[in-house]
Amino acid sequence: MMTEQDKTDETPEEGAATEGETKEQPAAEATDAANADAPKADAPKAAVKPAKKEKEPAPPGGPETAVVARKMAPGTPVVSRRRILQIGVWGGIGAAVAAMGASFLDFVYPRNVAGFGGTVSVASAAVPSPGQKVQIPAGRFWLVNLTEEQGGPGLLALWWKCPHLGCTVPWKPNFVWPDPATGANKKGWFRCPCHGSTYTDAGVRVFGPAPRPLDTMDLTVGADGRVTVDTGSVTPGAPDNPDRAVRI
Ligand code: FES
Repeated sequence: MMTEQDKTDETPEEGAATEGETKEQPAAEATDAANADAPKADAPKAAVKPAKKEKEPAPPGGPETAVVARKMAPGTPVVSRRRILQIGVWGGIGAAVAAMGASFLDFVYPRNVAGFGGTVSVASAAVPSPGQKVQIPAGRFWLVNLTEEQGGPGLLALWWKCPHLGCTVPWKPNFVWPDPATGANKKGWFRCPCHGSTYTDAGVRVFGPAPRPLDTMDLTVGADGRVTVDTGSVTPGAPDNPDRAVRI
């Protein structure tokens, strides 16, 4: 049973809000504030600024590290480091092979066709006098000017390669050997240093293992006395070598 004093204590004091009033009062104030903040229909619309992005804090312990991403055009092929190395290695091998091939071709390519294997020209002043002979290294032959006693007259080009095994045959002006035609010793012969095959001034074999006389090359004499020898046109030697001599 409540006394008058208790009623007095439960009665709210004047000016204090009741429970219902306490809940409604902030709502009303919020509504008023919203109305105040909301743009009025008649007022011009203000531009809405985007909210500023807050700067990210720097990582602790050091300055900021800038990470730059490389921008590549769309569709750009990506070449790996391994692929680049493979291209470099195979490119180097290809260049080496090409260089070796070029060296080989350079080695085997025919040169100096005007020398041995081609035509060799001998000036008239270099043509030996009758009974003499001269070595022409460019054509690898002896140019012999035969006398009648030697089987001529005329010029003969003798390939200096011995028909036996290919040694170079020199002229030995002081070598003495019996001449089969007369039986008397004669001074001066072509004499192979390898196995001793011996040949006359016209290259006819008189001794040794050579199977035949020295081979001859085609020869022509120009109007000016110049001699041209075709070292690519060789006739195997035979006893008729002196008959092949060309008169001047
Ligand atoms: S190579 Fe000349 S005689 Fe044998």
